[in-house]
Amino acid sequence: MQNQNIQWFPGHMTKTKRKIQSCLKLIDLVVEIIDARIPISSSNPDLAEIIQNKPKLVLLNKCDKANRSATDSWVSYYNNKGVKAIPVDCKSGRGLNKFVPSVREILAEKFEAQKAKGLKNPILRVMIVGIPNVGKSSFINRISKQTRAKVEDRPGVTRGNQWYTISKDLEMLDTPGVLWPKFEDEKVGRHLAFTGAIKDNILDIELLAMDFLELMRDHPTEEFLARFKLKAEDIKDLESFEILELVGKKRGMLISGGEINTERAANLIFDEYRDGKFGYITLEYPEDCNELA
Ligand code: G4P
Repeated sequence: MQNQNIQWFPGHMTKTKRKIQSCLKLIDLVVEIIDARIPISSSNPDLAEIIQNKPKLVLLNKCDKANRSATDSWVSYYNNKGVKAIPVDCKSGRGLNKFVPSVREILAEKFEAQKAKGLKNPILRVMIVGIPNVGKSSFINRISKQTRAKVEDRPGVTRGNQWYTISKDLEMLDTPGVLWPKFEDEKVGRHLAFTGAIKDNILDIELLAMDFLELMRDHPTEEFLARFKLKAEDIKDLESFEILELVGKKRGMLISGGEINTERAANLIFDEYRDGKFGYITLEYPEDCNELA
């Protein structure tokens, strides 16, 4: 999607909120997509209030890039809160076979109640929501391909909306609700930037890389150390800028006068991190959050 530079203003937020709320009466379940590496930063702070008491399914997306045991602990965290969460990778499609059964499980009572009322073929309807770049379009494309979903207009019932028929008893609204993150929180902004959810060019890439390298200094992964032929002891007492210089030096990023091009080094750090070259790194754990929507 091209909306990663969206600037959220109160007006936008109110409009989006209204749009999602107007769809709520058409659907039975909200599917919230979050990034498994940053479940706190990639979730919307106001979602609980927006969707009121609609049931919710959480998709921990991009789990191919997250630490596996951290993802498991997020699944348990949500389960303990009575919310079903499933790890998925919408790029490869891994985990998506659990989507339809999970929706059915959550809505089983409703489905049975509708049948008991005499409705012969009840249809369950879901809507996708999530912040920009979290993988909403990838999910919709994947799931509709996997299930050979057909997109249909339903004028009378749902004017202006198109629905994908995922299975004979399940439909999905074709346009996702684009939510905003808790952007006023500095740490949230940093984590969104690390993972590429916010464009680099609106941030100081070197400062951002220094923050990231502090993390690598304090919790280095084997892959990170191997990539730059470093040992944990080499960097444990260095300032983050010194590590940035070291990275640039290791990669021969010099400018005239023998100085190191730290801007290039910073860009390299993020290209490699986002590409998974530093291993599976989850930046947020359940113990980091007091309360999550
Ligand atoms: P959005 O609709 O929520 O804004 O997100 P979108 O699906 O456009 O996905 C944003 C980026 O995240 C895309 O990468 C997409 O391929 C990638 N992505 C989505 N789901 C996953 C996943 O589970 N794992 C991984 N590794 N990546 C995922 P892009 O670089 O913008 O596009 P492209 O180069 O993949 O075409």
